[in-house]
Amino acid sequence: MTITRALHRSDTFLWAHRGASALAPENTMAAFSLAEAIGADGIELDVHLTADGVPVVLHDETVDRTTDGRGPVSGYTLDALRQLDAGFWFDGDFAGESIPTLEEVLFWVEGRLRLNIEIKTAAAGRAVLKLLVDYPQVRPLISSFDHALLGDLRQQSPSIPLGFLSDSRFWQRALQRAVASGAESFHPAQRYTSRPLVEACHQAGLKVYPWTVDAPRRQSSLFRMGVDGFFSNCP
Ligand code: G3P
Ligand code: CA
Repeated sequence: MTITRALHRSDTFLWAHRGASALAPENTMAAFSLAEAIGADGIELDVHLTADGVPVVLHDETVDRTTDGRGPVSGYTLDALRQLDAGFWFDGDFAGESIPTLEEVLFWVEGRLRLNIEIKTAAAGRAVLKLLVDYPQVRPLISSFDHALLGDLRQQSPSIPLGFLSDSRFWQRALQRAVASGAESFHPAQRYTSRPLVEACHQAGLKVYPWTVDAPRRQSSLFRMGVDGFFSNCP
């Protein structure tokens, strides 16, 4: 807690990964509300499409791990998906939580926190861009490990802020691609984050947000390297 407060006195940006997912079921409104309550600056979430094409907030391609249902998200209509319990698996106190729609989160997050939406498919990317048009007050950051997809999103929306996710130890090459994609930030795996990486990103004009950093010692060492923020399950 001491470290978190110290970081907060600086400009280090605290992203709540899937919401405050160490304390509440990931990617639920409970996790997002808690992230705000404990002082996060932004929330990160993942998006998939239902069978009827609605963007919903869930990490996995299936509902198996985080709900009482079974099967792929894309096999559920929105109505059927909303019947699933997305909280009980985490703790009985959260029974009754449902999988949020992205629109529900957009409505809630306006005027509160910045929103990092991780995109895993081209179809989800298109749906997200379409929906964001109706929420001009939301401060989005769209990220993906699929770098061709980021390029497509840039083509579709010249001004949408992009975050370049990387899980590669060959970060110099990834950084070149991030610059070419017009990303505003580079999101390296925390294990590959180093002072030279941070300096190179800053020289290239990109912010650095490593993921996913829960150990206070590691948070502290990244802070000393000069990262602009980081993703944490317990921000
Ligand atoms: O954005 C960082 C992080 O969310 C990427 O990995 O698997 O948690 O979506 P994952
Ligand atoms: Ca994610």
